[in-house]
Amino acid sequence: MITSDIDAYLLQHQHKSLLRFITCGSVDDGKSTLIGRLLYDSRAIFADQLSALEADSKRVGTQGQNIDFALLVDGLAAEREQGITIDVAYRFFATEKRKFIVADTPGHEQYTRNMVTGASTADAAVILIDARKGVLPQTRRHSFLVQLLRLRHVVLAVNKMDLIDYDQSVFDTIVADYRAFASAIGIEQFTAIPISGFAGDNVASPSAAMPWYDGPTLIEHLETIDVEADAAQARPFRLPVQWVNRPDLDFRGFSGLIASGSVRPGDAVRILPSGRTTTVARIVTMDGDLPEAVAGQSVTLTLADEVDCSRGDVIALADAPPQVADQFRATLVWMSETPLLPGRSYWLKLGTQTVGATVQEPRHAIDVNTLAELSVKTLGLNDIGVAEVYTDRDIVFEPFADGADLGGFILIDRATNATVAAGMLDFALRRAQNVHWQAVDITNAAHAQQKGQVPRLLWFTGLSGSGKSTIANLVEKKLFALGRHSFLLDGDNVRHGLNKDLGFTDADRVENIRRIGEVAKLMTDAGLIVLTAFISPFRAERDMVRAMLPEAFVEIFVDTPLAEAEARDVKGLYAKARAGTIANFTGISSPYEAPEHPDIRVDTTRESPEAAAERIVEHIMGVWTHDL
Ligand code: ADX
Repeated sequence: MITSDIDAYLLQHQHKSLLRFITCGSVDDGKSTLIGRLLYDSRAIFADQLSALEADSKRVGTQGQNIDFALLVDGLAAEREQGITIDVAYRFFATEKRKFIVADTPGHEQYTRNMVTGASTADAAVILIDARKGVLPQTRRHSFLVQLLRLRHVVLAVNKMDLIDYDQSVFDTIVADYRAFASAIGIEQFTAIPISGFAGDNVASPSAAMPWYDGPTLIEHLETIDVEADAAQARPFRLPVQWVNRPDLDFRGFSGLIASGSVRPGDAVRILPSGRTTTVARIVTMDGDLPEAVAGQSVTLTLADEVDCSRGDVIALADAPPQVADQFRATLVWMSETPLLPGRSYWLKLGTQTVGATVQEPRHAIDVNTLAELSVKTLGLNDIGVAEVYTDRDIVFEPFADGADLGGFILIDRATNATVAAGMLDFALRRAQNVHWQAVDITNAAHAQQKGQVPRLLWFTGLSGSGKSTIANLVEKKLFALGRHSFLLDGDNVRHGLNKDLGFTDADRVENIRRIGEVAKLMTDAGLIVLTAFISPFRAERDMVRAMLPEAFVEIFVDTPLAEAEARDVKGLYAKARAGTIANFTGISSPYEAPEHPDIRVDTTRESPEAAAERIVEHIMGVWTHDL
């Protein structure tokens, strides 16, 4: 296949600029045929593939001299049978002037996710329209995404002109229709080209059949589009730090790919989020020092001063730094079968920064066909919506509209590691910048010291009836006897007060744990040893609390098998759940995600509550002596 030859092929065209573009259109718009044509006309098809293709075309009975290019691009037999292409496929080709990577993204209405993936690195989009059908709902959907992702160059390829007798009036009507929609969503400029991918008109060579069209062919136009790398160079300098290079005590360099702008030794720079300023000492590369480096280059900088700077920080032009915040308005494209859970903690990855983040209930979703704002509670697969995003610490960012590198992010599910959404940061919420920590004289450390202890959060998790409260209660009694200052937060009790507005849906349980985490944090700040006994069924929220209190958090898994908890059924709730009178009951009709690496595991079928409590106290006493 092409991939095995890509390296050799790219090497041959090394000196040429590279344009990345995506094609958007549905199966019927002739997308595969067009891509096949681009590859064929630029001679990118290798001889062995061509002969296979000719044989294939004969088998499926394509007539005449024309090879069925769709067969080449559609690749997989299964996709060919279904008549749809499913994943993003990247194809390479080159002309005399330029080389190209085209992301072939499926046009089926369902596959927004693939399109976002393909578009994330592209400079331009070719939106295909079947001249017989005109502007369709999916044309609008694709255009909306193209605009959302800020692809700067839009080409409207009105295809299958051969099937409408190359009629100019049809073309003009389609272009006018499209212009009306495009300007409504903010696409001010696009280039419309009448083509036939099948017959080759206006793809690589001008069409004799359309003398009324005097614009460029598709390839000519693609050859002249200015690429993102040029635009990136014009923006202020930013280097997201990928790693700190410290081979010995004398050298400390900060390595990464320059996202925008240029840099020279002596330039004043600012390190973010800390805000410290210094100057660039050297630009070090494998081939010696450089007098200047620009966007797109991987470099190592050394700085004039000893400043704190680590992976995830951004080194920026001192006078034009990016912003720093922890609360944002963002636009999200949801890409997972599992819907957004507002309040759940996901990983947010933005450049080289990875932080914990929660998404609030969406302000609205967007119907991309009508542009109507829909009132929703969550986002499902392929939904696009606007919501507030809170990160668990400051991140360095720029509004997506100002440059994609520090404005585009992805959300990752903590448990499955799957990418669940792509997002665009629109702006920082003002309150994020106006609420400051109140500095207090009596510090957390002072509170703890006065009590002569190291604050801890003993987080008991397990099924209802597993024995969490029983063991936690015994542990607290032992701590009390030892003169320790503690407090026990228990599920049933907290749910009568602070959390009495919450039930047992996934969203309510997430919020339940979030509040308890915050309360526990305040209590540990006050120097207490906090014990919590909540089912806390989801890994993501337990991890979120752990991230809030990395040092104090001790996860204790009270591991009682469901059968055992159900047999005990102290509160009679399992019987009710089985009878269907309690909904969303953990273990029966709602999941329990057991800890993978708890700090302490208690098997209540083998160990008495008393023995378990003894062991837990010993565990934390060991930690105390170590810490004190
Ligand atoms: S959690 O899932 O949000 O952590 P939490 O520990 O606060 O739950 O509350 C669990 C207690 O609520 C159980 O011990 C049980 O007494 C009661 N309860 C009532 N309905 C349910 C339910 N549907 N699922 C689990 N527990 C329930």
